[in-house]
Amino acid sequence: MRRKKVVVTGGAGFIGSNLSAELCKDNEVTIVDNFSTGKEGNIKDLIDSGCARLLRGSVTDLEAMKAAFKGADYVFHEAAIPSVPRSVADPMRTNDAGVTGTLAVLVAARDCGIEKVVFASSSSVYGETESLPKKEDMVCMPMSPYAVTKLAGEHYCRVFTELYGLGTVALRYFNVYGPMQDPGSEYAAVVPKFIDCALKGEAFPIHGDGLQSRDFTFVRDVVRANLMAAESKSTGVYNIGGGRRTTVLELAQAISEVVGFEMRAVHLPPRPGDVRDSWADISKAKRDFGFEPAFTLREGISETVAWFRRCLGTQG
Ligand SMILES: NC(=O)c1ccc[n+]([C@@H]2O[C@H](COP(=O)([O-])OP(=O)(O)OC[C@H]3O[C@@H](n4cnc5c(N)ncnc54)[C@H](O)[C@@H]3O)[C@@H](O)[C@H]2O)c1
Repeated sequence: MRRKKVVVTGGAGFIGSNLSAELCKDNEVTIVDNFSTGKEGNIKDLIDSGCARLLRGSVTDLEAMKAAFKGADYVFHEAAIPSVPRSVADPMRTNDAGVTGTLAVLVAARDCGIEKVVFASSSSVYGETESLPKKEDMVCMPMSPYAVTKLAGEHYCRVFTELYGLGTVALRYFNVYGPMQDPGSEYAAVVPKFIDCALKGEAFPIHGDGLQSRDFTFVRDVVRANLMAAESKSTGVYNIGGGRRTTVLELAQAISEVVGFEMRAVHLPPRPGDVRDSWADISKAKRDFGFEPAFTLREGISETVAWFRRCLGTQG
């Protein structure tokens, strides 16, 4: 993508800041964020260098979104409260950002003549499926308030395309990991949490038996998928994953090997709202806009560990 005006909502978050950094290379970027989970540090260089402008505010504020989107070509909508357990603890807050916020983004995009909104959906919309890998035409049965908000967001995208002709595409991300992901919160995702533990020499906390599986996707593949989907004619929902299935124990082993840590684990009770297995069929995204993951799990983990060592000053 070149010489476009783009807006990244949630641009101070993990995926949004990686996406903003890539877009800043050759486009005019506006980041919208209320810093509820995002961090100033993730975008400091982009803002200080004048590569991106920052609008502090909530995506639920329709007038602020209209002001932010004026004159823009594309909106990458990453803002959300992105955690299954957090949504189980506080469903109202998750719904506000995820449903009211997405609706406001779509209304503002429609009124500002945006070419396309790329919506960050989630593999969690599927719930437990009878078979694997998960395909876009399977029946969705969300198991958490977070997953419900993502499915509602997808439907709003489709309805805005059908009713108002707004270009939309929803990308169902499967367990994204990489540089800039926060290991600190009690809701931290498994990859940064394990890397942080390995670098500190602490046992990995594993919910359940560790044989639950996920399709871990490196963030740079997700960034590429966003750019490809935006510039394509595609609309509707697409799985974006690494296209392979890894158990949590296999992940723990891979991280231990990269860090050089002898793996130890403490097993905790399974978390309510979590699915047992997740694995993406990514053939639709490949067919419609040429997406294929470029990173193996080992390559992605190695880059992520290197970033943690460099930026968090943790020594392994
Ligand atoms: N990380 C994953 O594995 C994953 C998987 C599937 C889907 N997603 C989706 O991708 C998107 C980005 O996730 P992430 O992992 O980077 O999370 P993140 O928490 O790092 O980023 C979310 C960003 O949205 C911002 N935000 C939240 N509510 C807002 C509001 N009302 N107004 C403005 N900004 C707001 C936060 O401050 C944060 O900067 C989310 O929509 C998430 O649901 C992530």
